[in-house]
Amino acid sequence: MLQDKILVTAALPYANGPIHLGHLSGAYLPADIYTRYQRLKGRDIIFICGSDEHGVPITISADKEKVNPNVIIDRYHEINKKAFKQFGMSFDIYSRTSIPIHHETAKEFFLEFYNRGLLSEKKTLQFFDEKVKMFLPDRYVEGTCPKCGYEEARSDECENCGAPYEPSELKNPKSKITGQTPVLKETSHWYFPLGNYQRRLEEYVSEMNEKFGWKENVLNQCRSWFKDGLKDRAYTRDLDWGVAVPLPDAKGKVLYVWFEAVLGYISATKELSKQRGDENLWKDYWQDEHTKYVAFIGKDNIVFHTIIFPAMLMAWNDGKNDKYVLPQNVPANEFLNFEGKKFSKSRNWGIDVIDFLEQFPADSLRYTLAANLPENRDTDFYWKEFQMRHNSELADILGNFVNRTLTFVHKHFDGKVPARSKVETIDTEMLELLKSFPFKISELFEKYKLRDGVSEMMNLARAGNKYFNDSEPWKTIKNDKEKCAATINICLNMIYTLAEVISPVIPNASEKIFKMLNSGIVKWDDCANADLPEGHQLNNAEILFAKIEDPVIEQQIAKLNVSAPVQKPELQPQISIDDFMKIELRTARIIEAERVKKSDKLIKLKVDLGFEQRQVIAGIGKSFEPEELINKKVVVAANLKPAKLMGLESQGMILAVEKEDGSFSLLTFDEKVNNGTRAK
Ligand code: MF3
Ligand code: ZN
Repeated sequence: MLQDKILVTAALPYANGPIHLGHLSGAYLPADIYTRYQRLKGRDIIFICGSDEHGVPITISADKEKVNPNVIIDRYHEINKKAFKQFGMSFDIYSRTSIPIHHETAKEFFLEFYNRGLLSEKKTLQFFDEKVKMFLPDRYVEGTCPKCGYEEARSDECENCGAPYEPSELKNPKSKITGQTPVLKETSHWYFPLGNYQRRLEEYVSEMNEKFGWKENVLNQCRSWFKDGLKDRAYTRDLDWGVAVPLPDAKGKVLYVWFEAVLGYISATKELSKQRGDENLWKDYWQDEHTKYVAFIGKDNIVFHTIIFPAMLMAWNDGKNDKYVLPQNVPANEFLNFEGKKFSKSRNWGIDVIDFLEQFPADSLRYTLAANLPENRDTDFYWKEFQMRHNSELADILGNFVNRTLTFVHKHFDGKVPARSKVETIDTEMLELLKSFPFKISELFEKYKLRDGVSEMMNLARAGNKYFNDSEPWKTIKNDKEKCAATINICLNMIYTLAEVISPVIPNASEKIFKMLNSGIVKWDDCANADLPEGHQLNNAEILFAKIEDPVIEQQIAKLNVSAPVQKPELQPQISIDDFMKIELRTARIIEAERVKKSDKLIKLKVDLGFEQRQVIAGIGKSFEPEELINKKVVVAANLKPAKLMGLESQGMILAVEKEDGSFSLLTFDEKVNNGTRAK
């Protein structure tokens, strides 16, 4: 049977900053697991990635540092390439979109469409900053949303309420470069007729879904785009960084980054052809209908890979004999958050891949991320969970099974594979179960259910430990050596299969195990049948995963909290100690608490100040249930003039801090401080 070739691409990350764990979980690790697995299946596959080096994100970074964009892309291309390598990404090429072959490819597509009369030229009004003499991309303008009044709205749509509008409708616009009020100036752009492809795109998506099962999160986004109706899209931008529009009279215009970045997959494959001295290599994948093309991305890239890129390829294919393949599947993931919040470079929330890998093994990170991939919904990385997965799963389950078995062979069987001559039911059952694992995992991986596949792989190690325990070789070695030999023989074969099935996920551990087994990797389909021959000499046992101790993790968590830089707030003018002492801060115990009717914010409290009891109305109803407040010892500002809240008198204020998410945390005392004690 003719096997399909597989082309795998992973989103080209912007070379304007270091990648973080969220990127790895979203697209890169799934793509790598899938590719490594397919290679073991013996499939003809190539794996393409590279840096996305154009577009506004790059120019913003360059402006911030006041350097040429080239400085930025060179720096982060290298940094990210290195980080990917350390993480174990097995790309066939990590290319970049600033290379000539990419510019040529992008121009070729544009000209093909232009010459066929597909593109229409339209005049629009756009913000222009007269101080720096440039048209401002949407993200360079900030103003007040005409619909909801949000003050940090972009020029064409509001991030707060989602409303789209014309730039002329934005109120109080400001240039982000100079802070000045920009003017609206006429400019013209070429538009790609995306709307004309709507019907064909809908057919394409539903056909692919029927045949290959697309993910629900991906389908939902497509459906919502289709429902809104696809509109023509500007193919060009007024910017001086990017692929120049290949037409006379187009000075200062470049191709819109998304219309060329997606072609980066093709140009990167061309670059790979050159490297391998095989001119047609790229065509063998991109232009052969027997290629299965899978595009791995994160959820923010869905429309570009399921609608815009396919539309471009359809448009090209309509006029050419050399036809491109369209993505057969786009298994986009949701996002990974970090300790409950979004990764944020500016707020120092998260960790760069290189920093992580300087302290922890790549396999531990790969396993933790893989076991918790955001395949269906957003998930979180927690340091504690990382430690738990490393210690309790990699070390205590997988590592332990390998180690106890190998140590046993060296101690009792001279480090040689013992015979499997005496098998009982428990053994044949184990062998049956063992054989089922590679198939089970295979099925899941083929359907992009990588997380489930990873959990099966750990289940195999679990089954190994259970079998070892149930068979009690430490007893049988004394009274039934033949049975003991069979147990250990089977454990060794399980380890062999394990080494194979973990290889796509934790390749370094896999290699180490194969070395201990004095053996090598085989084809995936053979790994459950490959019998380690009796008498085969094994190498010494090595510890696979050393435990990660608490202080190491505590240190990481501590770093996170300290280093998050917070903008210095505007402080009130200084006051004297006497001024401060004018405020009576006194401790009190909450003795009654109930919700104020018709308010979800207010809680009516009775507090005991020792010398008297007061009623305090506190706006903490969204953060606490009344019951949890009873008996808390708090601090009250006790000489405030009484105020009325929803008709109720409040005779003081209790001290609390408002957290970033808008909820409150009370200042409380655990100690036995007398009620009414003054704080100074
Ligand atoms: N640079 C984009 C991002 O990080 C992804 C580009 S994918 C490509 O979101 F296909 F367009 F290259
Ligand atoms: Zn709005």
